[in-house]
Amino acid sequence: DMGGHDTYMHKEIYEQADAVDRALRGRIDDRFSTVHLGGLNLDARDARAVRRVKILGCGTSYHAGQIGAQMIEELARIPADAEPASEFRYRNPVVDPDTLYIAVSQSGETYDVLAAVQELKRKGARVLGLVNVVGSAIARETDGGIYVHAGPEVCVVSTKCFTNMVVSFGLLALHLGRTRDLSVADGKRIIEGLRKLPAQISEILANEGEIEKLAAEYADAKSMLFIGRVRGYPVAREASLKLKEVSYIHAEAYPASELKHGPLALIEPAMPTVAIVPDDELLEKNRAALEEIKARSGRILAVAHQVQEKADHTIVVPKNEHELDAILMGIPLQLFAYHTAKAMGRDIDKPRNLAKSVTVE
Ligand code: F6R
Repeated sequence: DMGGHDTYMHKEIYEQADAVDRALRGRIDDRFSTVHLGGLNLDARDARAVRRVKILGCGTSYHAGQIGAQMIEELARIPADAEPASEFRYRNPVVDPDTLYIAVSQSGETYDVLAAVQELKRKGARVLGLVNVVGSAIARETDGGIYVHAGPEVCVVSTKCFTNMVVSFGLLALHLGRTRDLSVADGKRIIEGLRKLPAQISEILANEGEIEKLAAEYADAKSMLFIGRVRGYPVAREASLKLKEVSYIHAEAYPASELKHGPLALIEPAMPTVAIVPDDELLEKNRAALEEIKARSGRILAVAHQVQEKADHTIVVPKNEHELDAILMGIPLQLFAYHTAKAMGRDIDKPRNLAKSVTVE
């Protein structure tokens, strides 16, 4: 039942405010400005002993993991990174007892992720799951973890589950931070930010009419570039993946800082750029990149906290705490991908060649 929506993708985009609310419910501890994650199975001593965090996933879940790694570094000051599970498992990785491994998966059945978990377990590593489907293979094989509580996701491309994954990483980063050096005041600030998310998501979705018009404006592109820096870069990668999956328009994501090392050669009016421009310490750097693109007659669609003068169009998103910016900035671009695909008559819920869960190698 699509409840009045024309596709599951559209329905699931609209379920995000409720889904995030569900991910937060019963987990916030205001007294100690932290969160309780019941199934984590990691006591304070274990949490303090973690020297590194390695996050493994595929596709959209890998992108959620990249954002998660940044949140863990920022809030808990633990070195963290994400890697595609399939790459990890075939490069004979050094498995380190002081590293906390986290497997991220919507379905909990993705073969490459499951195989990476099994290999890690065999070598004695501690592996947590950040999973949507309760009781799935990855949830069962891990030592503990966090259910992201996005609810069933039917559309082949992931939207609400991605958002709940990054929110869940925010909770984990806050929890790890508060067992280490994150102050009570910062914990409180992050909790306030998390609580604002559902209303801010609704605010973004209320802008759908404008996003639909913008999608029509850019739907003639054969290819699009997505750029961002640090917190904005995984957002750009995920938005680029979403566009190519549902519209079949070629899209490529690059760190904005790498533009001048190559991709600037592609810029011309027929190659539009979508730029993620949060109001953070990199704002001036991002603006300089927009200027470089404009100087070469590139069209620019910015997703930002304030209107960007160098951009042809800006989708303004509400500001949260800077550590949580990545959660909201991709949401308008889910609608952008949806409307682009719709204008092109694509099979949005079942893009060609893709399956909801990839249980083969
Ligand atoms: C993208 C998408 C895929 C999945 C990937 C991992 O929209 O749906 O990239 O994210 O196949 O799937 P899970 O999360 O089930 O492990």
